[in-house]
Amino acid sequence: MTATPPPRWLRRPAGAPAQLGYGADYNPEQWPREVWKDDVRLMREAGVTVVSLAIFSWARLQPAEDRWEFGWLDEVMDLLHDAGIAVDLATATASPPPWLTTRHPEILPVTRTGETVWPGARQHWRPTSPVFRRHALGLVEALATRYGGHPALAAWHVNNELGCHNAYDYSDDAAHAFRTWLRDRYGTLDALNRAWATSFWSQVYGDWNELLPPRLAATHPNPTQQLDFARFSSDALLDHLRAEREVLRRLTPDVPVTTNFMVMANTRAMDYAGWADDVDFVSNDHYVTPGPQSLDELSFSAALTGGIAGGRPWFLMEHSTSAVNWQPVNLPKRRGELARDSLLHVAHGADAVCFFQWRQSAGGAEKYHSAMLPHAGSQSEVFRAVTALGDTLRDLAPVAGSARQPARAAILFDWESWWTAELDSHPTSLLRYRQEALDWYSAFLALGVRADVVTTRTALSGYDLVVAPVLHVVPKALADRLTSFVDGGGHLVTTYFSGIVDENDHVWLGGYPGALRELLGIRVEEFAPLPVGTDVSLDDGSTGTLWSESVTVDAPDVDVLARHTGGEYAGLPAVTRRRVSGGGSAAYVSTRLGADGIAQLLGRLLDAAGVTSELPAAGRGRVELAVRTHGSEEFWFLVNRTDAPVVLPLAPARVLVGEGDDGGRVTLQPRGVAVLRYPSGAGERAEVGNGG
Ligand code: GLA
Repeated sequence: MTATPPPRWLRRPAGAPAQLGYGADYNPEQWPREVWKDDVRLMREAGVTVVSLAIFSWARLQPAEDRWEFGWLDEVMDLLHDAGIAVDLATATASPPPWLTTRHPEILPVTRTGETVWPGARQHWRPTSPVFRRHALGLVEALATRYGGHPALAAWHVNNELGCHNAYDYSDDAAHAFRTWLRDRYGTLDALNRAWATSFWSQVYGDWNELLPPRLAATHPNPTQQLDFARFSSDALLDHLRAEREVLRRLTPDVPVTTNFMVMANTRAMDYAGWADDVDFVSNDHYVTPGPQSLDELSFSAALTGGIAGGRPWFLMEHSTSAVNWQPVNLPKRRGELARDSLLHVAHGADAVCFFQWRQSAGGAEKYHSAMLPHAGSQSEVFRAVTALGDTLRDLAPVAGSARQPARAAILFDWESWWTAELDSHPTSLLRYRQEALDWYSAFLALGVRADVVTTRTALSGYDLVVAPVLHVVPKALADRLTSFVDGGGHLVTTYFSGIVDENDHVWLGGYPGALRELLGIRVEEFAPLPVGTDVSLDDGSTGTLWSESVTVDAPDVDVLARHTGGEYAGLPAVTRRRVSGGGSAAYVSTRLGADGIAQLLGRLLDAAGVTSELPAAGRGRVELAVRTHGSEEFWFLVNRTDAPVVLPLAPARVLVGEGDDGGRVTLQPRGVAVLRYPSGAGERAEVGNGG
C-alpha cells in the first residue's frame, strides 16, 4: 500500500471550487454569545471564507487542570460551518492560563540577565520546558480528539507566532536542552572546544555540564557560543512545532498542519528556511514598517516567504486592515492600501489573505489595533474596503493554486549570516544585514526588474544573476556551490563582509573575502568601517557609507567597475567584477551604496547578465510586476507603487482585476492593482534595456 502524500492546502469538501481564502483571526471568546451570529452574518457579507479560531483560548477551554469547557467552541464551530466558513483551528497553546503558571512557575522563561518573564501578557513559556510541553500536548490531544472530525476544520494552526516573545530563553531548562543539542552537533568536547575556539580567554570545557547559554557576561560572550545558541533557540521552537504536529498527525492524519511564521522586518530569531518542510503549507504574518521603504519591505518579505515556500502557494495568516497598536506611532492605512498590500502578497504567492483580527477588541492590550470590523462598526470605510477586497479575491479565484513564476534574478538571504554579521565585537556595530538585502531589492524595484528572494537551500542554477549581500558565513560547501554557479555561466554579486567566516564563525585566513577570495579574484587585508556621518566617493558618482576597504585585484580577468575618487583609498578599486571563462562573473561591492547607488550599479550588472525589465518604460520604478503561473497561463500582477495613476501599454490580455482596454492599455489607479491573464509566454512584450 502506498502512503498518501500529505495534504498541502486547506482541507475542503470534495468538489469545492478553487478559491483564494479570505478572513481573519476570530476571537469570539472576547464577546458575548449574542454577537457571534452578527459576526457570522457580517463575515458572509465581507466574503470571508476562513477564520483562525481559538488562538488565545486555553484559559477558556481548560479553566482548571481537570476541567474542560468545549461547549462554546462547539457552538462557534457549528455556526461557522453552517455559514460555509472554514476553520483554521489553533491548538490554543500560545498563552498558558494562570492556573498553570501559578502551579508551575518553572515554565516561565528567563532573560539573559536572569529575570523571570512573568505572566500577564502572552507566550510566557519556555520552549524547552518538559512541564509546559506535557500540558500543551494534553491540550492539543484534547482538541484533536474533539474536533478532528468536525466538518468546519480545514487546518490546524500550531500555537501562534512561535518565538514572537519567547525566542531566547536562558533558563536552566534551556541550559539542559542546549547541552543535549551541543552533544548532538559536536559529539565530543574536543570538537566543541575547537569550534568555539575556547583556548581564547581560558574557556576550555572539560565536562558537558559546564556549558551554558550565553547569559549576561563580563564582556563579549564567546561568538560561536552565541551563534550556536541562536541556532539552538530556533531549533527548540521548531522542536515544539514538531511535538504538537506529531500529536495532530497521529490523531488527524488527513488534516494539514501549519503555523504562522513572521517574515517581516525585525523578526530574525527563527531560521524559517529550515522550518518550511515541517508544515503542510507555509503561513506568514506581516506588518508594514512605516518609512520610505515600507512598500519595498512588504514586497521583499512576501518574496522571501515565497522563497521559503519553494515557490508554492502560501497563506497570509495575518496583516492589518489599518493601524497596529505596537509601533511608536501607529499610522492608519491610506485609501487603497488595504487592498494593495493584500494583493501584493497574493502577487508573491499568497493563496489566502487574512487579517488580525475579525472584530476590533473593546478591551485588552490590542483594542487600538485595527480589524476587519472596526469599533465604528460595519458602516465604516474600513469595512467597505474589506468587503470590496472580498469581491476582488473572488474575481481572482483562477489564480488559486498557481505557483510563483521564477524571476531571472534572485537575492540570497541567509539567517546565519544575519545572526553572525551583527554579533558584537565586530569592525562596526552599525551593520544591518536585512537592510543591505532590502536595499538591493529596492534597487531591483526601481529598475522594474523582478527578483526572487531565496535561501541557501534553494537551487541557484535556474537564475542568471544572484546577489548575495553580506553573505558573511560561507562554509566550504556554500563556497563550492557559488563557484559552480559562476562556472556554469551564472552571475554572482556579493558585498563587503561576505565570505569572511566558516560555519563556526572562524575567519578564513589568507586575506578577505576569505572563502570567496579566489572566486572574486580580489584580496583585502584590512577593514575600514566608516563612522556615522562619513562616506567615500566613487568615480561612478555614487557614495558609500558604513564600510570601506583597500581592495587589491588579484586575478587577470578582474575589471574594476568603480574606484575611490579621494581619501585614503583614492584610485583603488571599490567595485570589481571577475569575468569567468564560461561566461559567468563574480562581482564585489566593497561599501554600502544604499538603494539609489545600488540601482545605478545594478543596471550595469543586469546588462552584463542579460537580464532585462519585463515592464514597459512607463512602469519601471512606479509599478511592481510579479507573475504567477499555472503552466498553461500566467497571471501578471501590476502594483502601482505611487500615489498617481499610471498607464501601461501591454499586450492585450484578459483583465481579471483593474482597468484595461482591448488594445492592452492598462490604467492603474493611485495605489491600484491590475491582474492580467495571459496564455503562457504571451506576457513577454516589453522593451528591453535597463537604462543603467
Ligand atoms: C501578532 C499576533 C496577533 C496580534 C498581532 C497584532 O501578529 O499573532 O495575535 O497580536 O500581532 O499586530
